[in-house]
Amino acid sequence: MRLQSKVCIITGGGSGIGEAACKVFAREGAAVVVADKSLEAATAVAGEIGNRAIALEVDVAQSDKVAKMVRDAVARFGRVDVLVNNAGYGISGDVVETDEEAWNALMAVNVNGVFFGCKYAIPQMRKQGGGVIINTASVVASIGIRSRAAYCASKGAVAALTRAMALDHVGDNIRINAVAPGTIETSYFDAMMRKSERADELRRELAARQIMNRLGRPEEIANGMLFLACDESSFMTGAILTIDGGWTAQ
Ligand SMILES: NC(=O)c1ccc[n+]([C@@H]2O[C@H](COP(=O)([O-])OP(=O)(O)OC[C@H]3O[C@@H](n4cnc5c(N)ncnc54)[C@H](O)[C@@H]3O)[C@@H](O)[C@H]2O)c1
Repeated sequence: MRLQSKVCIITGGGSGIGEAACKVFAREGAAVVVADKSLEAATAVAGEIGNRAIALEVDVAQSDKVAKMVRDAVARFGRVDVLVNNAGYGISGDVVETDEEAWNALMAVNVNGVFFGCKYAIPQMRKQGGGVIINTASVVASIGIRSRAAYCASKGAVAALTRAMALDHVGDNIRINAVAPGTIETSYFDAMMRKSERADELRRELAARQIMNRLGRPEEIANGMLFLACDESSFMTGAILTIDGGWTAQ
């Protein structure tokens, strides 16, 4: 029960890594706010957890919706101890192929979403005397991959913002870290496979990038988030916790 009586907001909690985090955090005693742009997905996850979870429809790209998310969490559970800024997605393409509109839309979710979450949760955490923030970056914050220019840029920004905020808020007793997953089997990954004409081959190639020669499971990232959320990581802030099956060891 490493998160006993902690109140945790998890964005993108309706699927994949966020869903796994909601379930792992709830198992460890947390009250969980499952925030997702899909209310249906968030409601399904909250329903599986039970009465210590609520579902909220939140588009993290919209400042007012994120501010309301924090207010709603406080109205229901009285405080916010942990915020996991996890909602995000990727698009394909080099910079020439990437539409300006698609670039801006991706940045609005992957980068602005983290900014808004922190902007509205930190004042609440300050009032309470502290808190924990975990952002979902990616290995692409530190290594380039082909044909994912916007995604790489967005996750680089998440990692840089994590470090910058850790400095600014260490005096508020707020620890701010990120996870950097390798390739994880989630619905985002499945959608990518469905679009590919050579899905089996691509799957093998993506697994082989990771020296364990397999894809990661959402729970393996959620367990890292749990470590960052609880007191076991009390001496960590501004860190990027890489969980990638050894991909970036090469
Ligand atoms: N799957 C991977 O291989 C991988 C690797 C590294 C990083 N990541 C990151 O992990 C995070 C979670 O990805 P996943 O693989 O679990 O994907 P997923 O598609 O399974 O889940 C993402 C969830 O976020 C929600 N979401 C998307 N846009 C949103 C928005 N604007 N506001 C609120 N919710 C929104 C979706 O509805 C969905 O429920 C993302 O930030 C992603 O970039 C994933």
